[in-house]
Amino acid sequence: MISVSNGLFHLRTEHTSYLMRTTDTGHLVHLSYGAAIHDTTGWELLEEKGAVLSTVPYWDEEHEHLYPGNMLQEYPTPDRGDARPPAIAVEYGSGSLTLDLKVIGSRVMKGKDLSFPAHALPYDSTETLEIELSDRLLPIMVTLRYTVYPECDVILRSARIANGTGNPVIIREAASLSLDIPSDGWKLHSFDGAWARERHENVRPLLPGTVVIDSRLGCSGNEHNPLIYLENERGEVYGFNLIYSGNHRETVSVSPFGRTRVTQGINPFLFSWKLMPGESFETPEAIMTYSGDGIESAAQSFHSFIRTSIVRGFWKDRERPVLINNWEATYFDFTEERLLELADEAAALGIELFVLDDGWFGHRRDDRRGLGDWWPQPERLPDGLEGLSEKIRSRGLLFGIWVEPEMISIDSDLYRQHPDWVIAQPGRDPLPCRHQFVLDLSRTEVREYLFRCLSEVFEKGSVSYVKWDMNRTITDTFSSDSSVRLQGEVQHRYILGLYDLMGRLAEAFPGILFEGCASGGNRYDLGMLCFMPQIWTSDNTDVHDRVGIEEGTLRGYPQSTMGAHVSASPGHQSMRVSRIDSRFAVAAFGVLGYELDLTKLDDEDKEAIKRQICFYKKYRKILQQGRFSSLHVSRNQRFWYSSLGSTAIAVEIQTLNEVHTGRCDRLVYPDAYESKRYRVTAVRESIPGLGMSEEFSVCASGTILRKYGIALAPQFTGNGVSAETRVLGDFGSRMYIIEEEKDEGACIR
Ligand code: GLA
Repeated sequence: MISVSNGLFHLRTEHTSYLMRTTDTGHLVHLSYGAAIHDTTGWELLEEKGAVLSTVPYWDEEHEHLYPGNMLQEYPTPDRGDARPPAIAVEYGSGSLTLDLKVIGSRVMKGKDLSFPAHALPYDSTETLEIELSDRLLPIMVTLRYTVYPECDVILRSARIANGTGNPVIIREAASLSLDIPSDGWKLHSFDGAWARERHENVRPLLPGTVVIDSRLGCSGNEHNPLIYLENERGEVYGFNLIYSGNHRETVSVSPFGRTRVTQGINPFLFSWKLMPGESFETPEAIMTYSGDGIESAAQSFHSFIRTSIVRGFWKDRERPVLINNWEATYFDFTEERLLELADEAAALGIELFVLDDGWFGHRRDDRRGLGDWWPQPERLPDGLEGLSEKIRSRGLLFGIWVEPEMISIDSDLYRQHPDWVIAQPGRDPLPCRHQFVLDLSRTEVREYLFRCLSEVFEKGSVSYVKWDMNRTITDTFSSDSSVRLQGEVQHRYILGLYDLMGRLAEAFPGILFEGCASGGNRYDLGMLCFMPQIWTSDNTDVHDRVGIEEGTLRGYPQSTMGAHVSASPGHQSMRVSRIDSRFAVAAFGVLGYELDLTKLDDEDKEAIKRQICFYKKYRKILQQGRFSSLHVSRNQRFWYSSLGSTAIAVEIQTLNEVHTGRCDRLVYPDAYESKRYRVTAVRESIPGLGMSEEFSVCASGTILRKYGIALAPQFTGNGVSAETRVLGDFGSRMYIIEEEKDEGACIR
């Protein structure tokens, strides 16, 4: 709901209110963002009263107590008295950046603008407020957009900058959102890492000064995800994320006067955009949410927003197939015969989709060659893609394939033919990475080539699934494309080109399930999720490491977006040994796959996998689409829950294998309704060598389950377990099915 009256703008979602107003100087200032206000009487009391600050510039002689540097600004401009990070910087004339934006109009509309290629979809209840601002001196116009998603408490923001002057101007910075919070004392949660340790949650107190979270890798990156939260001691939380896959920047600054400002948008690093007279520039969209009830509830708002407005197409709400991927089973060492052996095992275990990973095309025998040459190798696939796909499908499996379209190997026919298609500075050798360069996706002919090759692959292979990889970052930024006016445009144009290509392919092949990947999770963002419903979370499938990676990822993104595989033990990344049931328990909270040599498993593991797949298929809707929450019981103990309707699946995770502590944990289910009764069934594989199997089925009232928790037998992973399984990082994992007990008499003894 949006209301505009007497210069007051009020954006309402079910549980939040966002208030702004136009000052009598014509500036747009922020009033508050917090719990829903049903009656705005007295909103004037929220206004800043001004103060006496010597050495700080004030608005004008009539407003000598109003200081831009201490006010809550809605879209702050540089060089007009506010020394905090600005939202916008436009260079005009001979290098001026000074802007003074005033409100010139506003309008409310149903639905929303869809002009940026990666955009959120509107709901029926979606409304947008557009506020038009213009510089006082020059016709440089900014349209701020606020789209309200009432049901999931999300507000979407973006800005359009238009050049109404008679000369070109250069956009140096254009944030998608800026939010001024009137207080300090916040903690910042960011999601950081590197290859194989993506999105670990870090929390730091915010002190005066500016913290920058960003990516300069040419993609959203595994170093710092665009997802951030601010949290205070009262459990108030602000969450932010960006619908963009390129370089992003979040600044969080605490002013000397106790204000906190957040900006988010395209990273100004390597960015500048020349805007000719009459042209305009659209920023990507950003989302924000507020919760008075902790991060978990803010994350759930983001989850429901992503499930409904970001993910789209045929697979949006559909249950995703369980897959087998041959990468860690064979790496580059495979023949068609070997693949079919794997497919036979997979089909027998109940797997639904076979994914042929890297190594099937060009002269690719290793990672030194072949990218760009998208035709099958006759030595490996004697009957081509058609033949292999046929054979796989005749075994009752869907066929999926790996591609890395954005890249070109130095040793490839494509590079020999088109050395000019790579991103490279003239006269300077670009830095190689995994023996490959980046194709210049801002060029139409490059995108045309890829569209043609990939369409042929997808058609010939009757492909149902595509793993779209991207295994290096962008360096040596330069494009020789004639549409590029400044080299500072190239990284953004690359992302626009990528969206164009993915959009065309998604439209041409609406039934294909696309999974994004970038050396694991180097590009896990909302922009990619507009085109690909799921993303490979991390190359690291070690059971212990995955707990942190998945928990960090789930802070911002729902389970249905998160590819999660059971791989071999010892794990190929950590060399840590773990039990197959532990590996499954963690993978089950995402989109399940197997990535190991099934032909080498013993019968015990095969039986375990069969049972896992049966269990997963039965509860797949809950595990993929349910409401996720986690409960940390102690340093070493946590529960994950995924609930949908009247059923939840829970897992108890002990991250370190502590020697028989005798601890007796309690299973608490925070979502239980006190007026209801629940049946709790424990399922656990037996521990090899110990012959122990624990299973129980008990009934408990919602109050017992929610407030007290049911006592569990101590996790017992020490005595009697073979030395091999007692490796640090392996953990006991019990899974629980918690169902509302419909049978009135069932709990009464
Ligand atoms: C990346 C991916 C892996 C695998 C390899 C193939 O590292 O993250 O899953 O596909 O590429 O080269």
